Amino acid sequence: MHNETIDLLCKHRSIRKYQQQPLKLEQIELILKAAQSVSSSNFLQCSTIIRITDMIRRKKLAHYSGDQNYITQAPEFWVFCADFNRHYQIEPGLQLEKAEQLLLGCIDTAIMAQNVVVAAESLGLGAVYIGGLRNNIDKVTELLAIPKYVLPLFGLCIGYPDPADNPEVKPRLPKELVIFKNQYQPINRNLLKQYDEQINNYYQHRSTNQKVGGWSDKIAKIINQENRDFILAYLHKQGWITK
Ligand SMILES: Cc1cc2nc3c(=O)[nH]c(=O)nc-3n(C[C@H](O)[C@H](O)[C@H](O)COP(=O)(O)O)c2cc1C
Repeated sequence: MHNETIDLLCKHRSIRKYQQQPLKLEQIELILKAAQSVSSSNFLQCSTIIRITDMIRRKKLAHYSGDQNYITQAPEFWVFCADFNRHYQIEPGLQLEKAEQLLLGCIDTAIMAQNVVVAAESLGLGAVYIGGLRNNIDKVTELLAIPKYVLPLFGLCIGYPDPADNPEVKPRLPKELVIFKNQYQPINRNLLKQYDEQINNYYQHRSTNQKVGGWSDKIAKIINQENRDFILAYLHKQGWITK
């Protein structure tokens, strides 16, 4: 059994090369309507999208994100923020800075962003999230005039995929390792080994950026490399998670 929506979701892959063609205003408005239609914890609507149309700012953001040049090539680049500043402007006596608000802001904003990705893909567009934005989060904050109680979480490039670059769908972990019944399960190492072989095969045969290695080999390297130790101090500075 399948339907159009599920087929669309299952053929997702990040797009990092775009045609020059800009999006039509109606497309942008439709995508933004889908973004704002998401569920919202306690209906607080604590997310903000900053659409970056100014190419000078775009170039700086690309640089701050580790020279990810698709940020300048994509017709659209949006920055997703968890945002309680709006609420603070309405109610200056608010008790903010609690850990729960960090979770709430991140959860709601990620859900909103995924509606954007799905809506864009349904229009034949492609997208890639840019977590690299947090590499230089202080500079991003200054460049975009982001006030206290607002947290830029990630960016998103959107555009028509370049047909010359057609990335394959990446195989996901076996469902037995991800979806449990009634209680948490320890990892099944045989299935993990099979998955590592599958990923190694995928990496060696995909159309671009071929490499050798499984999935689990990379965990330590990625997690230890992406340390961004400055994030906690940044969160405190912005008025998040001090309580
Ligand atoms: C929050 C988030 C941040 C990401 N940041 C980056 C990024 O900075 N640069 C990039 O090229 N891809 C980024 N990605 C894309 C992932 O690398 C990609 O989703 C993953 O490898 C799976 O590939 P797929 O999306 O093609 O299925 C990010 C994805 C997420 C969800």
